[in-house]
Amino acid sequence: MGQIFSKKANEIPSRILLGAIIVLTATVAGIWYYFSPEYTDVGYAPEQPVPYSHELHAGQLGLDCQYCHTNVEVSKQANIPPTQTCMNCHTQVKANSDKLTKIRESWETGQPVEWVRVHNLPDYAYFNHAIHVNMGVGCETCHGRIDRMEVVAQQEPLSMSWCLDCHRNPEKYVRPVEEVTTMGYEAENQLEMGRKLVAKHNITPPTYCQGCHY
Ligand code: HEC
Ligand code: HEC
Ligand code: HEC
Ligand code: HEC
Ligand code: HEC
Repeated sequence: MGQIFSKKANEIPSRILLGAIIVLTATVAGIWYYFSPEYTDVGYAPEQPVPYSHELHAGQLGLDCQYCHTNVEVSKQANIPPTQTCMNCHTQVKANSDKLTKIRESWETGQPVEWVRVHNLPDYAYFNHAIHVNMGVGCETCHGRIDRMEVVAQQEPLSMSWCLDCHRNPEKYVRPVEEVTTMGYEAENQLEMGRKLVAKHNITPPTYCQGCHY
């Protein structure tokens, strides 16, 4: 018995050490991200290889987000559409436009277009699209009015406190699931509706560390 006890006691310092290493690594990574210009958050809008406009396609033409981002309800990642999706229309529409040269090249060679990533979480934070979308968190809540963006720009900080602000008070944000891709959605009484939805779907987002870091 005595031996078992002392073995357990021995584990404690190494656990503390492990914990400290995790926190230290994460802090260094955090600082690195903070100073790395591409990830200083809100407003980041890299130039894309093709001047694709959400304002035109999602706004004026009214295409649903899921026409192109087909995986968002079923997968961790929201996919960027393949060239095929663009060619559904652009074999006919603006088929000779200079602005679509790279799309036609990609179509001929089979090489995907190299779109530049806009949003990027550090690897040590876990995020999953499907769970959010299926629980009624709208695209615009996290990405803003994409339907008004000529070029996609990050709208929210994607920081830990930003995630936690919603995880602590989801009723302030959730909407009916069928409205997740609606842009400009406004509930008559958000808090009342939000509370009902939280109760109905038993929405309990994690606020403990391992919920997002493991
Ligand atoms: C016709 C296809 C199409 C439609 C419809 C569409 N998108 Fe996109 N989306 C793209 C392409 C292509 C990119 C990559 C280029 C870019 O960032 O503009 C992209 C990029 C994005 C990004 C940035 C991804 C990153 O790199 O971090 C977000 C966010 C996004 N779309 C959200 C939406 C939302 C919300 C809607 C609906 C309102 C929507 N999209 C409708 C094709 C589409
Ligand atoms: C449902 C049909 C449809 C799909 C799918 C579609 N587009 Fe378009 N696109 C259009 C229409 C319509 C226009 C506007 C044509 C006009 O101005 O008369 C357009 C215009 C454009 C233009 C501007 C062309 C110019 O010369 O002004 C670009 C660039 C473009 N689209 C890129 C894309 C890309 C990239 C994709 C795939 C991610 C895509 N489109 C998917 C219908 C579509
Ligand atoms: C709860 C917030 C949240 C919601 C809701 C949300 N997104 Fe995202 N989105 C993010 C975050 C965070 C990232 C960056 C993920 C990463 O770096 O791993 C991202 C990244 C993306 C990307 C880039 C590819 C990827 O998966 O990393 C696209 C495209 C995208 N979102 C589209 C959408 C669309 C379309 C919707 C609505 C159907 C949507 N998002 C809803 C937070 C959200
Ligand atoms: C606007 C509200 C909102 C924002 C912002 C948000 N979440 Fe969530 N999150 C939710 C809701 C709602 C759920 C679903 C809870 C449930 O299923 O009971 C959830 C669930 C989760 C889960 C648990 C589900 C799973 O896949 O294990 C993780 C992890 C998570 N969110 C991570 C994040 C991270 C990381 C961020 C920030 C980058 C974030 N969330 C931002 C509302 C939000
Ligand atoms: C809802 C998801 C979520 C929960 C819960 C969460 N974190 Fe985070 N955490 C994140 C995200 C997202 C980042 C990345 C932030 C960024 O890139 O700015 C992060 C970053 C960090 C960092 C890096 C430094 C920083 O601030 O950027 C540390 C350290 C950290 N978290 C520790 C913790 C601890 C300890 C807990 C529990 C008390 C916790 N996290 C709970 C989402 C979460």
